[in-house]
Amino acid sequence: MTENPLRVAIIIGSTREGRFGPTVAGWFIEEARRHQGLAIDVIDLADTLPPAALGSALGGAAAEAFNAVTGTLDAADAFVIVTPEYNHSFPGTLKNLIDTHFTQWRAKPVSFVSYGGMSGGLRAVEHLRQVFAELHAVTVRDTVSLHNPWEYFDEQGRPDDLQASGTAAKVMLDQLAWWAEALRSARAVRPYGG
Ligand SMILES: Cc1cc2nc3c(=O)[nH]c(=O)nc-3n(C[C@H](O)[C@H](O)[C@H](O)COP(=O)(O)O)c2cc1C
Repeated sequence: MTENPLRVAIIIGSTREGRFGPTVAGWFIEEARRHQGLAIDVIDLADTLPPAALGSALGGAAAEAFNAVTGTLDAADAFVIVTPEYNHSFPGTLKNLIDTHFTQWRAKPVSFVSYGGMSGGLRAVEHLRQVFAELHAVTVRDTVSLHNPWEYFDEQGRPDDLQASGTAAKVMLDQLAWWAEALRSARAVRPYGG
C-alpha cells in the first residue's frame, strides 16, 4: 500500500429494485482497487436510504439518512460517480445526496462511470458536470461510458471487452489521481476560498 494514498469515494447512484448499477460498479471497483496509490471507499445509495424512501420521492428522512455518509465524503480526496441515465439525466436520489452536502465536494475532482442505452449515460454525465461546477468541484474530462452494458457483461459481472473497458477505466483513474494529488496539495498550502 502506498504511503498516504488518495482516498477515492465511489458512489453508486441508482437505487431502484432490479437495478444494473451494482454490476457496473462491481467491475469498476475491482479496476480501481488495482490502481496504484488509491484507497477506495464505496457508498451505495441503496444501502444509505431507509427502505421507505427507495424508489419514491425523497423527503426529510432521506436527507437525514445521507448524514451517515458525510464523514466518508469529507475524507475523500476524489469521487467517482457511477450513474445510469434516466430520462436524459441522472437519478433524483443522486441529486438529493449532492444537494445535502456542500463543503465535501469543494476543490476536489469528480469523475464518472456512466451507463444506459445508446448514449451510454453521457447525457447524465453532462448534467452532473453543470451541477458539480456550482459546487466548486472539478470534473475529469475522460469518462467510462457503457452502452447497453446488460448485453455484454457476463455472469461474473465483467464486460466481454475487458481490455478496452479496463483501458478506459485506467485513463480516467490516472486523470482523477492527477487532479486529486494536485488539489490535495493545494488545499494543504492554502484553504480553498471563493
Ligand atoms: C425511468 C427510466 C428512464 C430511463 N431513461 C433512459 C434514457 O433517457 N436514456 C437511456 O439511454 N436509457 C434510459 N433508461 C435505461 C437505463 O439507463 C437502464 O435501464 C439502466 O440499467 C438503469 O440503471 P439501473 O438499472 O442501475 O437503475 C431509463 C431507465 C429508467 C428506469
